[in-house]
Amino acid sequence: MELASLGTHVVLHPACVFIRPERMHVGHHVIVSEFTWIHAGLTTVIGSFVHLANHASISGGGVCILEDFAGLSAGARLVTGSELVHGEGLTNPTIPPGFRAVRRSFVHLARHAFLGTNAVVHPGVTIGEGAVVGSGAVVTHDVEPWTIVAGVPARPIGRRESRTVKALEARLYADLGVPPLDPAPFVTMKRDDIRRPDVP
Ligand SMILES: CC(C)(COP(=O)(O)OP(=O)(O)OC[C@H]1O[C@@H](n2cnc3c(N)ncnc32)[C@H](O)[C@@H]1OP(=O)(O)O)[C@@H](O)C(=O)NCCC(=O)NCCS
Repeated sequence: MELASLGTHVVLHPACVFIRPERMHVGHHVIVSEFTWIHAGLTTVIGSFVHLANHASISGGGVCILEDFAGLSAGARLVTGSELVHGEGLTNPTIPPGFRAVRRSFVHLARHAFLGTNAVVHPGVTIGEGAVVGSGAVVTHDVEPWTIVAGVPARPIGRRESRTVKALEARLYADLGVPPLDPAPFVTMKRDDIRRPDVP
């Protein structure tokens, strides 16, 4: 399998599925656990020190950015795009493109963002640095840095302390000689495009 780029100390479990791997960038010290399903969409970047636990998924065909130290617990779902569902077109991949109405968007998890078990992140959402999403939450709007959210739809329930995390981050980069991911080139690729069929 040819990825767009691949770092060192990476474990991609053989029971995972990667679609369009040539559009996928993977950093250093990454683990993708069993039965994870990733459609790289337009572009997917997985930074360093990132874990995708078993049965996590990235779907929707858009742009996905997981910065360094981001984590997906088991069954977490990142949805980077979707069918439009208000009658704009026919809805599913058996339908030819000219008949479908789709949104190709993005999901962006900044550094240290952490998703609990079975959390779902909707298209167009940025999870700020250090933010935590509780198990089973459905995130429909951006989450502020170092904020803890939970519920359906997700709402803030608390704050996370940043100082210790940032100090440990600096020490780990230095100890292991890992260069921090510069997300800037990928952030410029974030988009929110809607394509509708030509209806006569
Ligand atoms: C969101 C979370 C991080 C909050 O942890 P916390 O800050 O310690 O919060 P608490 O457990 O003190 O709970 C605070 C309140 O939020 C509620 N709450 C906690 N987690 C919740 C969740 N996932 N969904 C809805 N409400 C939740 C609690 O019931 C509590 O409400 P109450 O005050 O009315 O009783 C945590 O509950 C969670 O969901 N963790 C995910 C764990 C996980 O999936 N780990 C994967 C393996 S590492």
